[in-house]
Amino acid sequence: MMSRPFNRMPADRVGENNPSIWVELGALASENNAVNLGQGFPDGPAPKFVTDQLKKISKHPELTSAHQYTSGHGHPKLVNELSKWYSYLYQQQVNPKTNSLVTVGAYHALYYSFHAWINKGEEVIIIEPAFDCYGPQIKLAGGVPVSIVMNFPDGGTDASQFTVDFEKMESSITEKTKMIVINNPHNPTGKLFNRMELLKIADIAQKYDLIVVADEVYEFHCWGVNKMIRFASLPGMWNRTISIGSAGKVFSITGWKLGWAIGPDHLLAPLKAIHQKCTYACSTPTQLAVAMAFEKEWETFYFKPHKSYLGGYLPEELENKKKKLQKMLVKAGFSPILPQAGYFMLANYSNNNAGFKSSEETDELDDYSFTKWLCTEKKLAVIPFTAFFSKNEDKLKNTSFVRFCFFKKDKTLIDAKKIMKNLSK
Ligand SMILES: Cc1ncc(COP(=O)(O)O)c(C=O)c1O
Repeated sequence: MMSRPFNRMPADRVGENNPSIWVELGALASENNAVNLGQGFPDGPAPKFVTDQLKKISKHPELTSAHQYTSGHGHPKLVNELSKWYSYLYQQQVNPKTNSLVTVGAYHALYYSFHAWINKGEEVIIIEPAFDCYGPQIKLAGGVPVSIVMNFPDGGTDASQFTVDFEKMESSITEKTKMIVINNPHNPTGKLFNRMELLKIADIAQKYDLIVVADEVYEFHCWGVNKMIRFASLPGMWNRTISIGSAGKVFSITGWKLGWAIGPDHLLAPLKAIHQKCTYACSTPTQLAVAMAFEKEWETFYFKPHKSYLGGYLPEELENKKKKLQKMLVKAGFSPILPQAGYFMLANYSNNNAGFKSSEETDELDDYSFTKWLCTEKKLAVIPFTAFFSKNEDKLKNTSFVRFCFFKKDKTLIDAKKIMKNLSK
Protein backbone atom coordinates (compact mmCIF):
# COMPACT_ATOMS: atom_id res chain seq x y z
CA MET A 1 0.00 0.00 0.00
CA MET A 2 1.31 3.47 -0.89
CA SER A 3 1.98 5.44 2.26
CA ARG A 4 -0.29 8.43 2.57
CA PRO A 5 1.57 11.77 2.92
CA PHE A 6 1.30 13.25 6.40
CA ASN A 7 -0.78 16.37 6.14
CA ARG A 8 -1.89 17.50 9.58
CA MET A 9 -1.44 20.91 11.18
CA PRO A 10 -0.40 21.46 14.81
CA ALA A 11 -2.98 22.86 17.24
CA ASP A 12 -3.78 26.54 16.62
CA ARG A 13 -2.71 27.45 20.15
CA VAL A 14 0.92 26.63 19.31
CA GLY A 15 1.10 29.76 17.16
CA GLU A 16 4.23 30.61 15.24
CA ASN A 17 7.15 28.27 15.68
CA ASN A 18 10.10 30.58 15.06
CA PRO A 19 13.23 29.88 17.11
CA SER A 20 13.39 32.17 20.15
CA ILE A 21 16.16 34.72 20.51
CA TRP A 22 17.92 32.35 22.94
CA VAL A 23 17.93 29.50 20.45
CA GLU A 24 18.93 31.67 17.49
CA LEU A 25 21.69 33.68 19.13
CA GLY A 26 22.89 30.76 21.28
CA ALA A 27 23.49 28.79 18.07
CA LEU A 28 25.24 31.77 16.43
CA ALA A 29 27.48 32.21 19.49
CA SER A 30 28.57 28.57 19.50
CA GLU A 31 29.05 28.45 15.68
CA ASN A 32 31.37 31.45 16.01
CA ASN A 33 33.02 30.24 19.18
CA ALA A 34 32.18 33.68 20.57
CA VAL A 35 32.82 34.98 24.08
CA ASN A 36 29.32 34.76 25.46
CA LEU A 37 27.95 37.70 27.45
CA GLY A 38 24.53 36.96 26.00
CA GLN A 39 22.50 34.38 27.81
CA GLY A 40 22.01 34.84 31.56
CA PHE A 41 23.94 32.13 33.30
CA PRO A 42 27.19 32.08 35.29
CA ASP A 43 29.90 30.18 33.40
CA GLY A 44 32.22 29.71 36.41
CA PRO A 45 32.09 26.74 38.80
CA ALA A 46 28.81 26.24 40.66
CA PRO A 47 29.07 26.86 44.45
CA LYS A 48 30.72 23.79 45.98
CA PHE A 49 28.52 23.78 49.08
CA VAL A 50 25.57 23.27 46.70
CA THR A 51 27.06 20.58 44.44
CA ASP A 52 28.38 18.79 47.56
CA GLN A 53 24.77 18.14 48.59
CA LEU A 54 24.14 16.27 45.34
CA LYS A 55 27.34 14.30 45.94
CA LYS A 56 26.11 13.29 49.41
CA ILE A 57 22.80 12.14 47.93
CA SER A 58 24.47 10.07 45.21
CA LYS A 59 26.40 8.19 47.90
CA HIS A 60 23.11 6.75 49.21
CA PRO A 61 21.38 4.74 46.47
CA GLU A 62 19.39 2.96 49.16
CA LEU A 63 17.46 6.09 50.15
CA THR A 64 13.96 5.95 48.68
CA SER A 65 13.28 9.53 49.80
CA ALA A 66 16.21 10.70 47.65
CA HIS A 67 15.74 8.72 44.43
CA GLN A 68 12.08 7.77 43.96
CA TYR A 69 8.99 9.86 43.24
CA THR A 70 8.45 12.43 45.91
CA SER A 71 5.40 14.35 47.03
CA GLY A 72 3.72 16.04 44.04
CA HIS A 73 3.80 19.64 45.26
CA GLY A 74 7.43 19.37 46.42
CA HIS A 75 9.89 17.24 48.37
CA PRO A 76 8.91 17.52 52.08
CA LYS A 77 12.38 18.80 53.00
CA LEU A 78 12.34 21.45 50.28
CA VAL A 79 8.84 22.74 51.07
CA ASN A 80 9.88 22.96 54.74
CA GLU A 81 12.94 25.01 53.80
CA LEU A 82 10.90 27.25 51.47
CA SER A 83 8.43 27.75 54.30
CA LYS A 84 11.20 28.71 56.75
CA TRP A 85 12.97 31.08 54.32
CA TYR A 86 9.91 32.80 52.91
CA SER A 87 8.12 33.10 56.28
CA TYR A 88 11.17 35.13 57.31
CA LEU A 89 11.56 37.05 54.04
CA TYR A 90 7.86 37.95 53.68
CA GLN A 91 7.25 38.30 57.43
CA GLN A 92 4.21 36.15 56.75
CA GLN A 93 3.51 32.56 57.80
CA VAL A 94 4.19 30.35 54.75
CA ASN A 95 2.67 26.92 55.30
CA PRO A 96 4.88 24.11 53.95
CA LYS A 97 1.86 21.96 53.11
CA THR A 98 -0.24 24.48 51.22
CA ASN A 99 1.71 27.61 50.32
CA SER A 100 4.34 26.34 47.86
CA LEU A 101 4.57 24.39 44.63
CA VAL A 102 7.91 23.15 43.28
CA THR A 103 8.25 23.32 39.49
CA VAL A 104 10.73 22.75 36.65
CA GLY A 105 12.32 26.18 36.94
CA ALA A 106 10.60 29.54 37.23
CA TYR A 107 9.46 29.20 33.59
CA HIS A 108 7.19 26.33 34.59
CA ALA A 109 5.77 28.20 37.60
CA LEU A 110 4.95 31.17 35.33
CA TYR A 111 3.33 28.85 32.78
CA TYR A 112 1.14 27.29 35.48
CA SER A 113 0.18 30.72 36.87
CA PHE A 114 -1.19 31.86 33.50
CA HIS A 115 -2.83 28.54 32.65
CA ALA A 116 -4.45 28.23 36.05
CA TRP A 117 -5.92 31.74 36.17
CA ILE A 118 -6.38 33.15 32.68
CA ASN A 119 -9.42 32.34 30.55
CA LYS A 120 -9.77 33.04 26.83
CA GLY A 121 -9.78 36.79 26.24
CA GLU A 122 -8.77 37.81 29.76
CA GLU A 123 -6.10 40.49 29.94
CA VAL A 124 -2.76 40.49 31.74
CA ILE A 125 -0.69 43.64 32.24
CA ILE A 126 3.01 43.30 31.53
CA ILE A 127 5.61 45.99 32.18
CA GLU A 128 7.93 46.26 29.16
CA PRO A 129 10.74 45.76 28.39
CA ALA A 130 9.92 42.31 29.76
CA PHE A 131 11.41 38.84 30.02
CA ASP A 132 10.30 37.43 26.71
CA CYS A 133 8.30 34.38 27.84
CA TYR A 134 5.45 36.24 29.57
CA GLY A 135 3.61 37.32 26.42
CA PRO A 136 3.80 33.95 24.58
CA GLN A 137 2.83 32.02 27.73
CA ILE A 138 -0.19 34.28 28.33
CA LYS A 139 -1.25 33.81 24.70
CA LEU A 140 -0.85 30.02 25.00
CA ALA A 141 -3.28 30.19 27.91
CA GLY A 142 -5.73 32.09 25.66
CA GLY A 143 -5.11 35.42 27.38
CA VAL A 144 -4.25 38.84 25.99
CA PRO A 145 -1.00 40.49 27.14
CA VAL A 146 -1.35 44.27 27.55
CA SER A 147 2.02 46.00 27.64
CA ILE A 148 2.86 49.14 29.57
CA VAL A 149 6.22 50.43 28.37
CA MET A 150 8.49 52.05 30.97
CA ASN A 151 9.80 55.56 30.33
CA PHE A 152 13.52 56.20 30.16
CA PRO A 153 15.12 59.64 29.63
CA ASP A 154 17.39 60.20 26.60
CA GLY A 155 20.96 59.93 27.83
CA GLY A 156 19.87 58.21 31.08
CA THR A 157 22.65 56.33 32.86
CA ASP A 158 20.99 54.47 35.70
CA ALA A 159 18.42 51.67 35.75
CA SER A 160 16.41 53.53 38.42
CA GLN A 161 15.52 56.02 35.64
CA PHE A 162 13.25 53.42 34.07
CA THR A 163 9.85 54.44 35.44
CA VAL A 164 6.30 53.17 35.10
CA ASP A 165 3.55 55.60 34.15
CA PHE A 166 0.99 54.43 36.71
CA GLU A 167 -1.81 56.58 35.24
CA LYS A 168 -1.27 54.84 31.92
CA MET A 169 -1.24 51.49 33.69
CA GLU A 170 -4.53 52.28 35.41
CA SER A 171 -6.14 53.57 32.25
CA SER A 172 -5.27 50.36 30.41
CA ILE A 173 -7.35 48.30 32.85
CA THR A 174 -10.66 46.99 31.50
CA GLU A 175 -13.27 44.65 32.94
CA LYS A 176 -11.27 41.83 31.32
CA THR A 177 -8.05 42.61 33.20
CA LYS A 178 -7.29 39.89 35.71
CA MET A 179 -3.57 39.98 36.45
CA ILE A 180 -0.39 42.09 36.55
CA VAL A 181 3.05 40.56 36.07
CA ILE A 182 5.93 42.30 37.76
CA ASN A 183 9.56 41.32 37.51
CA ASN A 184 11.74 42.60 40.33
CA PRO A 185 14.76 42.85 40.14
CA HIS A 186 14.09 43.47 36.51
CA ASN A 187 15.49 41.68 33.50
CA PRO A 188 16.81 43.18 31.20
CA THR A 189 17.19 46.67 32.73
CA GLY A 190 18.62 45.83 36.17
CA LYS A 191 16.01 48.09 37.79
CA LEU A 192 15.05 47.41 41.39
CA PHE A 193 11.54 48.68 42.05
CA ASN A 194 11.36 50.89 45.15
CA ARG A 195 8.71 50.78 47.87
CA MET A 196 6.71 53.69 46.44
CA GLU A 197 6.52 52.08 43.02
CA LEU A 198 5.54 48.71 44.47
CA LEU A 199 2.88 50.32 46.69
CA LYS A 200 1.39 51.99 43.60
CA ILE A 201 1.10 48.60 41.92
CA ALA A 202 -0.37 47.19 45.14
CA ASP A 203 -3.00 49.98 45.18
CA ILE A 204 -3.97 49.24 41.60
CA ALA A 205 -4.14 45.49 42.27
CA GLN A 206 -6.39 46.15 45.28
CA LYS A 207 -8.61 48.67 43.52
CA TYR A 208 -9.28 46.44 40.50
CA ASP A 209 -9.15 43.07 42.29
CA LEU A 210 -6.14 41.82 40.30
CA ILE A 211 -3.83 38.88 40.88
CA VAL A 212 -0.14 39.82 40.94
CA VAL A 213 2.44 37.41 39.56
CA ALA A 214 5.72 38.57 41.12
CA ASP A 215 8.67 37.09 39.22
CA GLU A 216 11.43 37.59 41.79
CA VAL A 217 14.01 35.12 40.51
CA TYR A 218 16.83 37.65 41.12
CA GLU A 219 15.67 38.36 44.69
CA PHE A 220 19.13 37.70 46.22
CA HIS A 221 21.05 39.54 43.47
CA CYS A 222 21.03 43.01 45.09
CA TRP A 223 24.19 44.70 46.25
CA GLY A 224 25.24 47.75 48.29
CA VAL A 225 22.43 49.96 49.48
CA ASN A 226 19.90 48.39 47.13
CA LYS A 227 17.38 46.45 49.18
CA MET A 228 14.94 43.94 47.75
CA ILE A 229 11.30 44.43 48.74
CA ARG A 230 9.32 41.26 48.07
CA PHE A 231 5.87 42.08 46.73
CA ALA A 232 4.08 39.53 48.93
CA SER A 233 5.46 41.29 52.03
CA LEU A 234 3.55 44.53 51.27
CA PRO A 235 0.40 45.23 53.31
CA GLY A 236 -2.52 43.17 52.00
CA MET A 237 -0.54 41.67 49.10
CA TRP A 238 0.09 38.12 50.37
CA ASN A 239 -3.52 37.26 49.54
CA ARG A 240 -3.31 38.27 45.89
CA THR A 241 0.31 37.43 44.97
CA ILE A 242 1.87 34.39 43.34
CA SER A 243 5.62 34.82 43.95
CA ILE A 244 7.95 33.02 41.57
CA GLY A 245 11.44 31.85 42.54
CA SER A 246 14.26 29.85 40.97
CA ALA A 247 16.89 27.61 42.57
CA GLY A 248 18.86 28.07 39.35
CA LYS A 249 19.18 31.79 40.07
CA VAL A 250 19.39 31.58 43.88
CA PHE A 251 22.29 29.12 43.93
CA SER A 252 23.82 29.93 40.51
CA ILE A 253 22.96 26.50 39.08
CA THR A 254 20.65 27.40 36.19
CA GLY A 255 20.99 23.92 34.64
CA TRP A 256 19.27 22.29 37.62
CA LYS A 257 16.00 23.84 36.41
CA LEU A 258 14.16 23.91 39.69
CA GLY A 259 11.78 26.68 40.69
CA TRP A 260 8.70 27.38 42.76
CA ALA A 261 5.53 29.35 43.17
CA ILE A 262 4.73 30.63 46.67
CA GLY A 263 1.34 32.01 47.65
CA PRO A 264 -1.87 31.56 49.59
CA ASP A 265 -3.76 28.29 49.20
CA HIS A 266 -6.60 29.86 47.15
CA LEU A 267 -4.11 31.10 44.52
CA LEU A 268 -1.89 28.00 44.38
CA ALA A 269 -4.57 25.28 44.42
CA PRO A 270 -5.40 25.66 40.68
CA LEU A 271 -1.68 25.57 39.78
CA LYS A 272 -1.37 22.34 41.76
CA ALA A 273 -4.38 20.90 39.94
CA ILE A 274 -2.59 21.40 36.59
CA HIS A 275 0.75 20.18 37.95
CA GLN A 276 -0.87 16.97 39.15
CA LYS A 277 -2.21 16.28 35.65
CA CYS A 278 0.87 17.30 33.74
CA THR A 279 4.13 16.77 35.65
CA TYR A 280 3.01 15.27 38.96
CA ALA A 281 6.42 15.65 40.68
CA CYS A 282 9.80 17.23 39.90
CA SER A 283 13.20 15.54 40.12
CA THR A 284 13.70 14.22 43.67
CA PRO A 285 17.52 14.35 44.18
CA THR A 286 17.68 17.88 42.78
CA GLN A 287 14.95 19.03 45.17
CA LEU A 288 16.64 17.36 48.09
CA ALA A 289 20.04 18.88 47.24
CA VAL A 290 18.51 22.36 46.95
CA ALA A 291 16.74 21.83 50.30
CA MET A 292 20.04 20.78 51.90
CA ALA A 293 21.81 23.82 50.41
CA PHE A 294 19.12 26.11 51.83
CA GLU A 295 19.45 24.35 55.20
CA LYS A 296 23.23 24.76 55.18
CA GLU A 297 22.96 28.44 54.26
CA TRP A 298 20.26 29.38 56.76
CA GLU A 299 22.12 30.00 60.00
CA THR A 300 24.83 32.14 58.47
CA PHE A 301 22.30 34.04 56.36
CA TYR A 302 20.16 34.70 59.44
CA PHE A 303 22.88 35.58 61.97
CA LYS A 304 25.79 36.85 59.87
CA PRO A 305 24.36 37.58 56.42
CA HIS A 306 27.55 39.26 55.10
CA LYS A 307 29.38 35.92 55.67
CA SER A 308 26.77 33.86 53.83
CA TYR A 309 26.61 33.00 50.12
CA LEU A 310 23.31 34.77 49.49
CA GLY A 311 23.83 37.80 51.73
CA GLY A 312 27.58 38.27 51.21
CA TYR A 313 29.51 36.36 48.57
CA LEU A 314 26.92 36.52 45.77
CA PRO A 315 26.11 40.27 45.97
CA GLU A 316 29.80 41.17 46.37
CA GLU A 317 30.74 39.02 43.40
CA LEU A 318 28.03 40.64 41.29
CA GLU A 319 28.97 44.18 42.27
CA ASN A 320 32.57 43.44 41.44
CA LYS A 321 31.78 42.01 38.04
CA LYS A 322 29.33 44.81 37.31
CA LYS A 323 32.15 47.33 37.89
CA LYS A 324 34.48 45.41 35.57
CA LEU A 325 31.95 45.32 32.76
CA GLN A 326 31.02 48.97 33.27
CA LYS A 327 34.68 49.99 32.99
CA MET A 328 35.37 48.05 29.82
CA LEU A 329 32.16 49.26 28.20
CA VAL A 330 32.96 52.91 28.90
CA LYS A 331 36.51 52.44 27.54
CA ALA A 332 35.10 50.90 24.37
CA GLY A 333 32.80 53.87 23.85
CA PHE A 334 29.52 52.24 24.92
CA SER A 335 27.17 54.13 27.26
CA PRO A 336 26.08 51.68 29.95
CA ILE A 337 22.92 51.97 32.05
CA LEU A 338 24.01 51.00 35.53
CA PRO A 339 21.94 48.19 37.02
CA GLN A 340 20.77 48.30 40.66
CA ALA A 341 20.42 44.51 40.90
CA GLY A 342 20.40 41.28 38.89
CA TYR A 343 23.14 40.21 36.50
CA PHE A 344 22.47 42.21 33.36
CA MET A 345 23.56 45.58 32.06
CA LEU A 346 22.16 47.48 29.09
CA ALA A 347 24.46 49.67 27.04
CA ASN A 348 23.97 52.05 24.15
CA TYR A 349 26.31 50.98 21.37
CA SER A 350 25.52 53.68 18.83
CA ASN A 351 28.49 55.97 19.63
CA ASN A 352 31.24 53.44 20.03
CA ASN A 353 32.68 53.64 16.50
CA ALA A 354 33.20 49.92 16.40
CA GLY A 355 32.99 49.81 12.65
CA PHE A 356 29.44 48.52 12.51
CA LYS A 357 27.34 50.06 9.75
CA SER A 358 23.61 49.61 9.73
CA SER A 359 22.30 48.61 6.33
CA GLU A 360 19.37 50.23 4.55
CA GLU A 361 18.92 47.09 2.50
CA THR A 362 17.52 44.97 5.26
CA ASP A 363 14.43 45.50 7.38
CA GLU A 364 16.17 43.83 10.30
CA LEU A 365 16.24 45.97 13.45
CA ASP A 366 19.60 47.69 14.01
CA ASP A 367 20.29 46.05 17.36
CA TYR A 368 19.79 42.63 15.77
CA SER A 369 22.18 43.50 12.94
CA PHE A 370 24.69 44.88 15.45
CA THR A 371 24.39 41.77 17.65
CA LYS A 372 24.94 39.44 14.68
CA TRP A 373 27.84 41.55 13.41
CA LEU A 374 29.46 41.63 16.87
CA CYS A 375 29.10 37.86 17.16
CA THR A 376 30.27 36.86 13.68
CA GLU A 377 32.91 39.56 13.06
CA LYS A 378 34.21 40.26 16.57
CA LYS A 379 33.27 37.00 18.34
CA LEU A 380 31.36 38.61 21.19
CA ALA A 381 27.79 37.49 21.92
CA VAL A 382 25.19 39.82 23.48
CA ILE A 383 21.39 40.14 23.31
CA PRO A 384 19.49 42.83 21.35
CA PHE A 385 17.30 45.01 23.59
CA THR A 386 14.32 44.98 21.21
CA ALA A 387 13.81 41.26 21.99
CA PHE A 388 12.18 42.46 25.22
CA PHE A 389 9.41 44.48 23.53
CA SER A 390 6.31 43.07 21.87
CA LYS A 391 5.14 45.93 19.63
CA ASN A 392 7.01 47.02 16.55
CA GLU A 393 6.59 50.74 17.39
CA ASP A 394 8.32 50.18 20.77
CA LYS A 395 11.05 48.04 19.21
CA LEU A 396 11.76 50.82 16.70
CA LYS A 397 12.31 53.33 19.54
CA ASN A 398 14.83 51.08 21.28
CA THR A 399 17.29 49.86 18.68
CA SER A 400 20.42 51.48 20.17
CA PHE A 401 20.89 49.15 23.13
CA VAL A 402 22.16 45.64 23.72
CA ARG A 403 22.12 43.57 26.91
CA PHE A 404 25.27 42.17 28.52
CA CYS A 405 25.36 39.48 31.21
CA PHE A 406 28.21 40.18 33.66
CA PHE A 407 27.86 37.10 35.89
CA LYS A 408 30.76 35.42 34.06
CA LYS A 409 34.08 34.02 35.25
CA ASP A 410 37.09 36.36 35.19
CA LYS A 411 38.57 34.63 32.12
CA THR A 412 35.40 35.35 30.11
CA LEU A 413 35.37 38.98 31.23
CA ILE A 414 39.06 39.36 30.34
CA ASP A 415 38.43 37.83 26.89
CA ALA A 416 35.50 40.21 26.42
CA LYS A 417 37.70 43.13 27.46
CA LYS A 418 40.30 42.20 24.82
CA ILE A 419 37.62 42.13 22.14
CA MET A 420 36.19 45.44 23.25
CA LYS A 421 39.62 47.07 23.29
CA ASN A 422 40.06 46.14 19.65
CA LEU A 423 36.56 46.93 18.53
CA SER A 424 37.32 49.99 16.46
CA LYS A 425 40.42 48.49 14.82
C1 LIG B 1 13.03 37.24 34.82
C2 LIG B 1 13.19 35.77 34.65
N1 LIG B 1 12.18 34.95 35.02
C3 LIG B 1 12.28 33.62 34.90
C4 LIG B 1 13.42 33.03 34.38
C5 LIG B 1 13.48 31.54 34.23
O1 LIG B 1 14.09 30.93 35.32
P1 LIG B 1 14.35 29.35 35.36
O2 LIG B 1 15.65 29.09 34.69
O3 LIG B 1 14.33 28.99 36.81
O4 LIG B 1 13.20 28.71 34.62
C6 LIG B 1 14.49 33.84 33.97
C7 LIG B 1 15.69 33.24 33.35
O5 LIG B 1 16.53 33.88 32.78
C8 LIG B 1 14.37 35.24 34.10
O6 LIG B 1 15.36 36.07 33.73
